[in-house]
Amino acid sequence: MRDAFNRTIEYLRVSVTDRCNFRCVYCMPPQGVEPLQHSQILSYEEILRIVTVLTKHGLKRVRLTGGEPLVRRGLIEFVRNLSAIRDLQDIALTTNGSLLAPMAAELKQAGLNRVNISIDTVNAELFHQISGGGRVQDTLDGIEAALSVGLQPVKLNVVATTYLTDADLAFFLNLARNRPVAVRFIEYMPIGYNTADVSISISHLREKLTEIAGAALIPIQFPQGGGPASYFTLPGMIGRLGFIAPISEHFCSSCNRIRLTADGKIKPCLLQNMEFDIKSQLRSGINDLQLAQLLLQAVCLKPAGHELNSSGSADSAVTRQMSQIGG
Ligand code: GTP
Ligand code: 5AD
Ligand code: SF4
Repeated sequence: MRDAFNRTIEYLRVSVTDRCNFRCVYCMPPQGVEPLQHSQILSYEEILRIVTVLTKHGLKRVRLTGGEPLVRRGLIEFVRNLSAIRDLQDIALTTNGSLLAPMAAELKQAGLNRVNISIDTVNAELFHQISGGGRVQDTLDGIEAALSVGLQPVKLNVVATTYLTDADLAFFLNLARNRPVAVRFIEYMPIGYNTADVSISISHLREKLTEIAGAALIPIQFPQGGGPASYFTLPGMIGRLGFIAPISEHFCSSCNRIRLTADGKIKPCLLQNMEFDIKSQLRSGINDLQLAQLLLQAVCLKPAGHELNSSGSADSAVTRQMSQIGG
């Protein structure tokens, strides 16, 4: 699939639920968001149909997101069915890791290839604060489980916030040095209702990491993923360090993805409000050819990119909460 800007679109991020067992300060308002009712969210069968149709037009990768995808019942069976779709080369999951440890082996066995796990600090108290009640140990257990069952490469998502301490930077640097883990620092994106101005600059963070490491970071290609992170290594480092800076170093010209929301909308760009309703069309009984036309139209209308700058903090132009998109 090619969009109007000649970008190849081969990656679909599927939000399987808007619900989450965390309330991260940068992701949803403290009171949470009114959850969708069961009838409003796409069934697994509907998602499988959309993915199957898209693979006939060049879709190669699917990433499952949320809310928190592991809170939706039946996910393992769904992954098994996804992995049976011909031509799908990569099935990945983005998770807060808290429920992963007991599910990791079964997910792997069902055909999940890899996981990205969010962890913004390893300080138990700060983690509890930032996540609205989470336990950092559960997420650390999730990371270990992912490594031990071979859900690889394991990538960590650390949103660059004021919660991040020097001890965290030393911990993450050490982890990337000694374990096959890619630790990525993500620039805060002003989406939805955001009163918490917790962002810190990615370039500052890069400098700080260089300082702590005592050596210049070496840019490197990291083959698996196709996502927007730029990766770096250091001599003797087993894992990787990465940076994702959608605002200050935006990568829209090489964007390869579209999104499917839990309520059945195609969102061609994370940072634009444009959406295409697929669910109501699906439920009105369209055939696969008509479905393909709808999906390809959404791809064609994918915008060139976003227009946010880092000063757009509170109540941004993007009206959905991040938790309702899945990142
Ligand atoms: P892989 O490269 O497939 O491993 O995935 P990824 O790094 O793209 O996925 P993940 O869900 O771990 O996302 C990491 C961060 O990148 C999240 O904060 C996402 O919101 C952000 N992100 C991912 N894709 C895009 C994108 O197309 N545009 C923007 N602006 N941010 C993105
Ligand atoms: N800015 C940047 N990243 C965010 N995430 C959630 N909200 C934001 C935001 N406002 C990250 C999560 C998760 C991924 C899906 O997106 O930490 O790792
Ligand atoms: Fe792609 Fe939109 Fe993200 Fe830019 S902001 S990289 S176009 S999804």
